[in-house]
Amino acid sequence: MRVCQTKQELRLAMADLRSQGTVGLVPTMGYLHDGHMQLVHSAKSECDHVAASIFVNPTQFGSAEDLTNYPSNLDRDLKMLQEAGVSVVFTPTPDIMYHPNAQTIVETTELAQKLMGELRPGHFRGVATVVTKLFNLFQPDRAYFGEKDYQQLQVIKTMVRDLDIPVEIRPVPTVREADGLAMSSRNVLLSPQARTASIVLSKSLDLGQSLAQSGASTEDITKAIADMIRAEPLAELQSVDLRDAETLEEVSGPVTRDVVALLAVTFDPVLLIDQRVLTRKEPS
Ligand code: PAF
Repeated sequence: MRVCQTKQELRLAMADLRSQGTVGLVPTMGYLHDGHMQLVHSAKSECDHVAASIFVNPTQFGSAEDLTNYPSNLDRDLKMLQEAGVSVVFTPTPDIMYHPNAQTIVETTELAQKLMGELRPGHFRGVATVVTKLFNLFQPDRAYFGEKDYQQLQVIKTMVRDLDIPVEIRPVPTVREADGLAMSSRNVLLSPQARTASIVLSKSLDLGQSLAQSGASTEDITKAIADMIRAEPLAELQSVDLRDAETLEEVSGPVTRDVVALLAVTFDPVLLIDQRVLTRKEPS
């Protein structure tokens, strides 16, 4: 496995790798867990080679505190990627990634403003810009993103469509702990009590799915999910939204097409998100 710290090293390594077959890219911010490794496994099953990036991107963090607290363990991450058969890993510093006078941003104007974009202004601009840079640097055939970050996935798909970026975006289903908590690098920041309480996210989404199947309206489902989370003393509900699963536009009335339930909940100070596509029919 080649570990590249500079863009020059990466471009050389990638030219070599691309000459040997198709390449799947797994962009990460490190502190890898089974959710990331699922992205690597999906890439491995569909591409000849897998490349990955580990970069805690400062431009997508709202507060300096959130950025400083973001967990990291580079040695462990590299070992995991090597054992999983990854060929090239890019581990730049912010100084290497961004020109000191960087002036260009990528923004999906509508999608970036709503939902999580309202809670974390500028977040999706940071994501779209860094992911575009990674696509330009790696030039992969496919790139793998978790469905857990549902709005991020829609932002990236839209950006690739609008800017004609020659990469296929492959969504990968959320990987969960045994009790249902969606895997996230932030989970280690939860206190033991908050960790126990955090299963309310997946439980409330299960409730949403069973209500959708019984014909409840999106308004009633939203209220039921919010009530369940508000009943958990350690959880502070930031947002619960039911939206069209593709466009993320507002929906109302009974669930007649796929809608996605998007949750953002804080367990002081850790922000967790989760999502589930709710269907009227029994999920297969
Ligand atoms: O999902 C993430 O880990 C990050 O948002 C990404 C896509 C690696 C961009 O920094």
